[in-house]
Amino acid sequence: MGKRGRIIAIGSGKGGTGKTTTAINLAAVLSRSEQVILVDGSFNSPHISIFLGSPRLPVTLHDVLEGKNLIEESIYRHSSGIRVVPGDISSRIMSAEHLKRFREVVSRLSDKYSFVIIDCHSGFGREVETTIGSAGEVILVVEPDLVSLSDAIKTRKLIEKHGKKLGGFIINKNSADYSEVLPADAERLLGMRLLGVVPFDSAVIASKKMKHPVVHSHPSSRAAAAFYRIADEIRGSKGRMEEEEDRGAYLINKLRGLK
Ligand SMILES: Nc1ncnc2c1ncn2[C@@H]1O[C@H](COP(=O)(O)OP(=O)(O)O)[C@@H](O)[C@H]1O
Ligand SMILES: [Mg+2]
Repeated sequence: MGKRGRIIAIGSGKGGTGKTTTAINLAAVLSRSEQVILVDGSFNSPHISIFLGSPRLPVTLHDVLEGKNLIEESIYRHSSGIRVVPGDISSRIMSAEHLKRFREVVSRLSDKYSFVIIDCHSGFGREVETTIGSAGEVILVVEPDLVSLSDAIKTRKLIEKHGKKLGGFIINKNSADYSEVLPADAERLLGMRLLGVVPFDSAVIASKKMKHPVVHSHPSSRAAAAFYRIADEIRGSKGRMEEEEDRGAYLINKLRGLK
């Protein structure tokens, strides 16, 4: 068997911080260079298919968890290039037995994909325990305020309880008017590594209306630039540094050639 992919859950604690937005945009950026699959782990209120403009689909993650379909039958490709396993938007309550299959499903995906990105539900219920428990690492998305941070601290405890890797956190919807906490203070309070700060940006709201990730619909926006930088952080700076070194060597050789 080949090397397994990274299974990254995108969580928060508080609702509305931008988990779904972040999961979609990171999947879009990483898809450019990696094999990526985005999985809707918000079983009771899946939003990814709505965000991407295809709310009704013939086979969903719910069918797979109920044992009716294979995971391969629930994979769709959005026009932006993202591969997605969506949930069923009609209320279909998943039993504990159904949820138990989730871990197996994502593990199977990690055989084929280098990144499995799971969009988590908000709060601290059974759903969130399932997604965190199935991931290898968890990235938290917080708003720059104390309410959001206090919920993120509780989620951090959940990540530790499950023995999962703290994958760092993202501050989203940052703005001079709105922000209550500075990035360095948030990092200290949460005790996790800050992966990046995404500004509050009307381009994100416009992209949602267009049913596209902002990195595709508004590639020059400030939010898109932040998602690019964060994806780079997640992928690890090694590749980028090697590229820069290569470029440096090329320039030096070129200059030598000019002498
Ligand atoms: N950086 C941002 N700037 C402006 N609006 C944003 C930003 N990030 C998210 N939003 C908006 O905030 C709302 C909640 O985002 P969402 O991704 O659904 O959060 P969650 O999945 O955590 O509940 C959405 O309407 C989304 O378009
Ligand atoms: Mg969401």
